[in-house]
Amino acid sequence: MELYEAMEKRRSIRKFKPDPVPRETLTRILQKAIWAPSGNNLQPWEFIVVTGVKKEELAMSYGRITEFGFPPAGKRTEAQEKFLEWAKTLGGAPVAVVALSPVHGDPLTRKMNLESVAAAFTYLLLAATAEGLGTCWMTGPLRNEKEVRRILEIPDDKEIVAITPLGYPDEEPVPPPRKDPELKEKVQWIGF
Ligand SMILES: Cc1cc2nc3c(=O)[nH]c(=O)nc-3n(C[C@H](O)[C@H](O)[C@H](O)COP(=O)(O)O)c2cc1C
Repeated sequence: MELYEAMEKRRSIRKFKPDPVPRETLTRILQKAIWAPSGNNLQPWEFIVVTGVKKEELAMSYGRITEFGFPPAGKRTEAQEKFLEWAKTLGGAPVAVVALSPVHGDPLTRKMNLESVAAAFTYLLLAATAEGLGTCWMTGPLRNEKEVRRILEIPDDKEIVAITPLGYPDEEPVPPPRKDPELKEKVQWIGF
């Protein structure tokens, strides 16, 4: 798939087929993610690829924290029920990937590392799209970060950047329109 096509085609997928993703495919995607640029070429990213019981535990944790912010059962909107179903199961995705960055006391180095890991995560999402796989960049589960750390045994010297489910899409969401497609508000051109 051409890069520009993948950039537009990538959507946040919240409903997946149960089909497993071959390990070779996951390896290929991760081997593309690590080509992202990084501050001082530190390549600070680390990834945890989760499947099975631990992935279910992650999903349940996200479900619980989502439910906590919603009205009680019977008083929820259809959209809230749908979102909750996605959260509790990660949309039935067979795999989840967690991206980590090293903790750093210096704010600028921390920012640099976080940006580097975010770049690698973006590459990962695009590579997954090129492989016909769906993803959904998530920080919501980090509202219960302590539990995510416990489930995956993540040590305190690592910062959790983002989580994505990964699997074959079972939906085709409508692309959300761009806020400023003509680039009249969000881009300043200086010296042209
Ligand atoms: C930093 C970041 C955090 C996000 N966190 C969540 C999340 O916790 N749960 C979720 O369902 N989607 C999450 N999303 C996905 C966004 O909702 C989605 O990207 C946005 O609605 C645009 O849709 P698209 O990805 O299909 O273009 C997140 C996206 C980003 C970039």
